[in-house]
Amino acid sequence: MKAAVVSSFDSAPRYQDFPSPAAAGEDEMLVDVLAAGLHPRVRSQAAGSHYTSTGELPLVPGVDGVGRGPDGRLRYFVLPDTAMGAMAEQTVIDPRRSIVLPEGTDPVAVAAAMNPAMSSWVALRQRVSFQAGQDVLVLGATGNAGQMAVQVAKHLGADQIVAAGRDPGRLAALSALGATATVPLGAGTGSGDTADRLAKAAADVDVVLDYLWGPPTTDAMVAIVTNRADRGQPLTWIEIGSVAGRTAEIPSAALRAARLQVVGSGQGSVSTREYLAELGVLAQEIAAGTIDVDARAVPLAQVEEAWSATEAKHRIVLVP
Ligand SMILES: NC(=O)c1ccc[n+]([C@@H]2O[C@H](COP(=O)([O-])OP(=O)(O)OC[C@H]3O[C@@H](n4cnc5c(N)ncnc54)[C@H](OP(=O)(O)O)[C@@H]3O)[C@@H](O)[C@H]2O)c1
Repeated sequence: MKAAVVSSFDSAPRYQDFPSPAAAGEDEMLVDVLAAGLHPRVRSQAAGSHYTSTGELPLVPGVDGVGRGPDGRLRYFVLPDTAMGAMAEQTVIDPRRSIVLPEGTDPVAVAAAMNPAMSSWVALRQRVSFQAGQDVLVLGATGNAGQMAVQVAKHLGADQIVAAGRDPGRLAALSALGATATVPLGAGTGSGDTADRLAKAAADVDVVLDYLWGPPTTDAMVAIVTNRADRGQPLTWIEIGSVAGRTAEIPSAALRAARLQVVGSGQGSVSTREYLAELGVLAQEIAAGTIDVDARAVPLAQVEEAWSATEAKHRIVLVP
């Protein structure tokens, strides 16, 4: 069969022949892959830099996708940490880590949206006791996951939703998707200006969904903690992504002077069981169109070009 194959962590996967996998036992099912999302998580898997990487090569990347098994049913599946990923004509799934989708569901939309949407969905449902009516800041709201976080927060009943991000066009578009305020970050906005804007718009939020980390997180944390009307009001800062830095300085005073707790949300801090508990309902919402999806289908044969499109704003989905 054909697959995207990583032979070296220094170069993009190549479209080539690869041995067809086989299912063994009732907990495995061979599926024809219809769509597999090229998420940041998949890029780091293929670069050997994700925290779950074992260094095993060759590797077929892809952590999730949509496929059809011998029972004829359409399924969204999540793969375990494996060298036989989703970016192939066929892969082996564990049916217990899959959700049967209604016939007629767009495989590309589901493959594009589940990973980025799950990041905020699971954070708000599994990592904090989030209540309808609470206020949320999405830090890094202009990426795929950040845009979906605004929509997920709205869907789960958030009152004020502050979206902070760099791309002015995407930031402006978030008002129509549920943001009640927007804060520009980055070029043209000095960190002092940003801090003032965050202090005005987001000082009293209950939850921060943080896709950035690095220096912007430090600046935002100081701005929020020092400007809270009630420092005894709980603030849960959920670290989800790290596009602006792998480490961030957390001032000791921030933890002492306000009722701040910092938690993470991702593979490990959220158990497989907790993820599985959320898959079905989120897949239903995506299939029903609750969450706006900006997906672009690309033939699997063009995997090398897809890999070089690092500036793409839409989510690339490889289609065998
Ligand atoms: N823990 C989880 O469960 C989970 C799940 C999914 C994703 N993630 C993580 O979440 C992050 C975002 O994922 P994604 O799918 O949204 O990726 P994406 O679609 O590629 O979006 C990333 C966005 O980050 C913004 N960005 C990059 N550097 C920045 C900086 N220095 N300051 C501010 N913004 C910056 C860019 O938007 P602008 O150009 O507009 O600034 C870019 O569009 C990644 O780190 C990913 O690994 C975590």
